[in-house]
Amino acid sequence: MHTLSSVFEDLLSTWDGEEMVARYDGPTETWMFVGVHSTLLGPAMGGTRMKAYAAPGDGLSDVLRLSQAMTLKQAVADLPYGGGKAVLAVPRVPAPGSSARREVLLRYAALVDSLHGTYVTAADMNTGAADMDVIGERTTHVLGRSRDGGGAGDPASGTALGVFHGIRSAWRHANGSADLDGVAVLVQGVGSVGDRLADHLGEAGATVLVADIDEGRAEKTAQRVGGAAVEPASVIGTASEVFAPCAAGAVLTRETIPRLACRVVAGAANNQLGSEEDAALLAQRGILYAPDYVINAGGVIHLAGYETLGWDEATMHARLAGIGETLAGIFETADTDGITTAEAADRLALARLAAGRPG
Ligand code: NAI
Repeated sequence: MHTLSSVFEDLLSTWDGEEMVARYDGPTETWMFVGVHSTLLGPAMGGTRMKAYAAPGDGLSDVLRLSQAMTLKQAVADLPYGGGKAVLAVPRVPAPGSSARREVLLRYAALVDSLHGTYVTAADMNTGAADMDVIGERTTHVLGRSRDGGGAGDPASGTALGVFHGIRSAWRHANGSADLDGVAVLVQGVGSVGDRLADHLGEAGATVLVADIDEGRAEKTAQRVGGAAVEPASVIGTASEVFAPCAAGAVLTRETIPRLACRVVAGAANNQLGSEEDAALLAQRGILYAPDYVINAGGVIHLAGYETLGWDEATMHARLAGIGETLAGIFETADTDGITTAEAADRLALARLAAGRPG
């Protein structure tokens, strides 16, 4: 558990972001944190996470960490956005559609609006397109409203397609061919992203294995794509060619990496590595790791492309396929320079940030 004062101390000593906004909203008993990590490439864009934390400091800690990762993600995705993130640390998550939820969202929207576009919000854990519609009533600085509400809708379809292209690219690097026909891919978590990813994999002829703590969900996906369900507790030791984490973070740790039975890790989950050193442990085991913030950028590409940049379908598809090309470059750099793929991704992001905003 993090106390607010201990996280503020960390903030002052280690966080290299631009602006941190913290507001305690009395009427809804909610701490609202907005982290503007970088506006070097454009307005700081990233989702709003709604969560009942053990302590508000844990929410602030999430904002600091996640906003920093968003800066890297936007830079590697080559979008005209910087990195930001927000947390609504609520006493309890109000039910979707409830008046309590609407009240928190509207009060939060006023805070976002007061930043005059320095921060642009979107959906994240426990928030979705309907919530963005409510936020959109009070501010224009929001992406991912429903299609009916004039937005780009749920970005999970973009994330899933981007991850699919990333898997093909990683498999090509590991095996010499991007053909997934007959290749066993284990998808951990078949929610918004994993379920759609399973469809892409099935269509490509892969042998799809799925696991979810919601057993019914795993069975349903497995049946639809002609794959098989795996016990969620057995995922780490289950043999596959490609392991695609699409559920929680920190699945790649010094405890799990020795037990992985795959050649490639390439999935949507954020913050897959338990610590920075875990990227080296994967490399030592000869497992190719597709850095999470590179392979899962399809969501922000979907939002920016459809809602801000006015892309047509062909441009969108080309940009999502571009995730595979970006990864290929990262794998090459890692091999040539003898660094991990995670380090190669960071290097690319930092080079883009150093080059600054185009034009
Ligand atoms: P979701 O909440 O719709 O789905 C997650 C699924 O994982 C659920 O079905 C849940 O039951 C399952 N799950 C949770 N813990 C599990 C475990 N230990 N073992 C097996 N299954 C488990 O989430 P969504 O939107 O599909 O996102 C998945 C991951 O991808 C998250 O880490 C998210 O942060 C990341 N991500 C999502 C993006 C999006 O566009 N939705 C964009 C970028 C990253």
